[in-house]
Amino acid sequence: MATVEIRHLVKQFSDEVTAVRDINILTQDGEFLVLLGPSGCGKSTLLRMIGGLEQPTSGQILIGDKVVNNLPPRARSIAMVFQSYALYPHMTVHGNIAFPLKAGKIPKAEQEKKIHWASTILGIDNLMDRRPGQLSGGQRQRVALARALVREPDVFLLDEPLSNLDAQRRASARDELQSFQREIGTTTIYVTHDQVEAMGMGHRIAVLNHGELQQIGTPREIYEEPQNIFVATFLGSPPMNLIPHGDRLIGFRPESISPRSEVIDPVNAIEFTLNNIRTEYLGSEKLLYGDIEGTRAVSRLPANFVIPEEEGASVKMAVEHRAIRIFDKATGQSTGEPVIDLTSAGSLT
Ligand SMILES: Nc1ncnc2c1ncn2[C@@H]1O[C@H](COP(=O)(O)OP(=O)(O)O)[C@@H](O)[C@H]1O
Ligand SMILES: [Mg+2]
Repeated sequence: MATVEIRHLVKQFSDEVTAVRDINILTQDGEFLVLLGPSGCGKSTLLRMIGGLEQPTSGQILIGDKVVNNLPPRARSIAMVFQSYALYPHMTVHGNIAFPLKAGKIPKAEQEKKIHWASTILGIDNLMDRRPGQLSGGQRQRVALARALVREPDVFLLDEPLSNLDAQRRASARDELQSFQREIGTTTIYVTHDQVEAMGMGHRIAVLNHGELQQIGTPREIYEEPQNIFVATFLGSPPMNLIPHGDRLIGFRPESISPRSEVIDPVNAIEFTLNNIRTEYLGSEKLLYGDIEGTRAVSRLPANFVIPEEEGASVKMAVEHRAIRIFDKATGQSTGEPVIDLTSAGSLT
């Protein structure tokens, strides 16, 4: 096992395209670190540089405490799994998992021991004679993981390995992958554009946009204390509400705004009027949409919550101070201000 450290890493493909801009990250040993961001933000490029498939323009990559910039992929003690899995279609599951061991000239008996160990951990020991074409997407993904696991790498690099699965299968695959990583304790860097995967699986999340690191922290830190508007709105579905107020933006999550009558601590809350309301019943919850000072906002309520007003009417809402985050309108950065400074009047509308 090992830590991975990235120092001032830059990847410039051309004058127009800089995919990774001066990124610094230090993982902990055994950590599950997620690289999260929209398509094209540089996640795969960053992962491929760590794996040795792409040469950095500048900066350093350390695995353990060794600079690996000039080492080829096979000398880095890493194993990569991609979205496509890249299994050999003409080989059985056993043949696919054995492949990297054969290439490494490991004695046959020891190969078989490792294959048995990896396939048991991943629950595919009953599929060893099948070919990839005879497997479900989830099973193929587990074969790809087993093939990476038998190499007993210091670091796993996974690039959107679940994105070929349907939504239902993805939830259980998340659970399996997370249990598997916690069990073997191998440092893992996992790329995804899916915030649910990132929140659910990572010890920490590194949020990227336009090749820049926006924030790194635990899922709770990223969700509750976003450092800028990009992070605040990239995580959460629906995302954080942002209401312009002078040169600031007042941010609060949909679950933090409720009809005034429901607020537990009204003294330490700000009131808003939600105009022109519309509701969406979603089975497990109800979304209440409306305008606050001309900005569309949304409140997340229990599914059985009864809103006395009709569609199109106005409702008095409130948000407790502790749930409010303030952002600078010009820079998009969190100001870290206590909300009380902004709202001496107690109400915005
Ligand atoms: N080999 C390449 N040559 C030129 N540009 C590339 C290459 N690979 C990626 N890019 C560009 O770098 C940026 C980041 O790409 P990528 O790392 O694949 O993003 P992500 O994985 O977050 O979707 C994109 O603008 C992409 O078009
Ligand atoms: Mg990618």
